[in-house]
Amino acid sequence: MNKKTEEIEIRTLLKTLTTKEKIGQLMQLAPFFFIHDLEVEVAGPLRELNLDADKIYLSGSILGVGSPEEMIRVQKKYLERSRHKIPLLFMADVIHGYKTIFPVPIALGATFHPELAELTARISAREASTSGIHVTFSPMADLARDPRWGRVVEGFGEDPYLTGTMAASMVKGYQKGGINQDDALASCIKHFAGYGASEAGRDYNTVDLSRIALFSDYLEPYKRALDAGARLVMTSFNTLDRIPATINPFLLRTVLREKWNSGAVTISDYDSLGQVKAHGVAHDDREIAKKGLTAGLDIEMASSSYINHLEELIQTNEVDESLLDEAVLRVLQLKKDIGLFENPYKGANPNKHQSIVLSKEHLDLSYRVAKESAVLLENDGILPLSNDVSIALVGPYANNKSVIGPWSWHGKRDLHNSLYDVLKDRVSFTHTSADIEDYSKEDKAKLQTASIVVLALGEPDYFSGEAHSRSDISLPDHQDDFFQAIRSINPNTVVILFNGRPLLLNQVKESRALLECFFLGSMSSEVIKDILYGIVNPSGKLPISFPRAVGQIPLYYNHLNTGRPYHVENKSNEYVSKYMDVVNTPLYPFGYGLSYTQFFYDNLTISNEILCPDETLHVSVNLTNIGQVKGQEVVQLYLRDHVARVSRPIQELKRFQKIELQSNETKMIHFYLTISDLQYSMEDGEMVYDQGLFTVMVGSSSTDYLETTFTLKESHK
Ligand code: NOJ
Repeated sequence: MNKKTEEIEIRTLLKTLTTKEKIGQLMQLAPFFFIHDLEVEVAGPLRELNLDADKIYLSGSILGVGSPEEMIRVQKKYLERSRHKIPLLFMADVIHGYKTIFPVPIALGATFHPELAELTARISAREASTSGIHVTFSPMADLARDPRWGRVVEGFGEDPYLTGTMAASMVKGYQKGGINQDDALASCIKHFAGYGASEAGRDYNTVDLSRIALFSDYLEPYKRALDAGARLVMTSFNTLDRIPATINPFLLRTVLREKWNSGAVTISDYDSLGQVKAHGVAHDDREIAKKGLTAGLDIEMASSSYINHLEELIQTNEVDESLLDEAVLRVLQLKKDIGLFENPYKGANPNKHQSIVLSKEHLDLSYRVAKESAVLLENDGILPLSNDVSIALVGPYANNKSVIGPWSWHGKRDLHNSLYDVLKDRVSFTHTSADIEDYSKEDKAKLQTASIVVLALGEPDYFSGEAHSRSDISLPDHQDDFFQAIRSINPNTVVILFNGRPLLLNQVKESRALLECFFLGSMSSEVIKDILYGIVNPSGKLPISFPRAVGQIPLYYNHLNTGRPYHVENKSNEYVSKYMDVVNTPLYPFGYGLSYTQFFYDNLTISNEILCPDETLHVSVNLTNIGQVKGQEVVQLYLRDHVARVSRPIQELKRFQKIELQSNETKMIHFYLTISDLQYSMEDGEMVYDQGLFTVMVGSSSTDYLETTFTLKESHK
């Protein structure tokens, strides 16, 4: 059937619906409304949302579903009662895996390996789709530059290019082969827009972004995810230009529909339409409904202003019915493209579910991704350990299974091994307290005689995620003191860290080795063990800067120069942009991470010293593994545009490649840049470039690189 015929069919279907039925397509509720006794068990929520059974059975989609059996039950019950028999669409949060859990997104960001991101999404889709889920609320493409924000864990860090690349790869993975495939999911990119810029890192807080910052940094990742084919966009909880994103016509119409020409279905975040009242931008649900639909919001999640008020608004001509039709058509088209009209139970398959979730193949992939996600921050040579050393394993994560990370609602912590489970044959002493007072004299003696003390420290997984912001980002529960106490007993310490955000690591930095794991998912402990013993050579790089002090936040590598930049070589000038009590630089910069081998960069070459807009700049560099073991390096290319019509960042990541080299092997690495890489966004989103000097930096982090320059000119004359 050609596209045109399909469209006509959807339009014909639309014509058969009453206004109320059309509005129902824009309502999303939780499955419990359909599972439980409406009058008895869900009477409270029904009252709160001013819903009754007739309205409930108009819903177009469902949020979250527990199992294939549940999906089948809900769909069946719904279809039996529905007049029009348009199947429900099932959406859910499949964030970093369904039952096989992959590293949390911030850790996935540390892989700098987009193909792995695509594969994790692919496998997540394969597992989740067997439960009859059709849409995942993933990936989160919000830039995060404030580690206090709990949702740092759900994104890919502070850089627009890296975040956009990883988000786009996940979209491709989820939607591989087309969203009508039994094992694919449609991807909903979120949270549109600027959610990560919440003031002071407090979740749901005010966002005040300049248009130029919005266009040049924050919007790029969503755009790239949409270009990769994401079929839905979730609005964010915050305001933008003081208008809640959920009813923001600039975002939903001007940017999404007009500038980007996107036909994606828009959906509110959980009750974010209802919350417009709390923002003080509408008096009541009626006004909210009007503002939402007019602004371009299609589906309302978990609130009920559309179903309760749109019909009347249309009857009184306060809202044009064509707006409703436009939104409903998008939803019907999505249902059609997913294949729901042919098979309302699409994907749901209890037998397949049992046989594929947590399969060896899926766990192997989880291991493979986790291997590349851990970031080695310090190592004086103590790692890797030799097999015969006796280790003492201590700290709150020594024997803790809560390492799969937040937002893994179908993940089962108990199924996986703790560090102790996998290391027990080699452990001479273990204790899980982080309070040295809990250690007896005998314990301390054992600590002292151990060859190595492995401290498994961190913040609990529930310290990050939605609504879990922190003002203090040091290790909780005096773990720094604990570290110092252990160190004074035995200086041969190796610290393993679990956390969902950058923490202040000034003290544990003094450890002989420091491994940042974030939360590595189902195979966390197996991977950490293999890193400790050198079976795996770590290759992760930080996707976000780690500050020295909370007072430096927001801290990100791609900042502007300021009129009074601080130069280390000119310390005498007091009137520069700096603090009196801490240096400007992070403790660990963006792109940083060690390996058990060393990489040497030389011979950075560019094809053109003068580059014209229609030419391609070829950049090459030699990379040599000068260490003893095989390893992977993330070769990073940054650009600086020295003079433009607006102030430009001191460097911006434009390309990266993950390269594996044997000991003593050399490879020439090639990058190609075109004018689109030299362009930047103005405050209205227009992309422009300026002639003049550029610096190209190629190296192993945002602070460790070789550099050269070229000049952009209109012509060679
Ligand atoms: C609220 C969160 O902000 C969003 O990320 C999530 O997808 C929805 N709830 C649905 O669970």
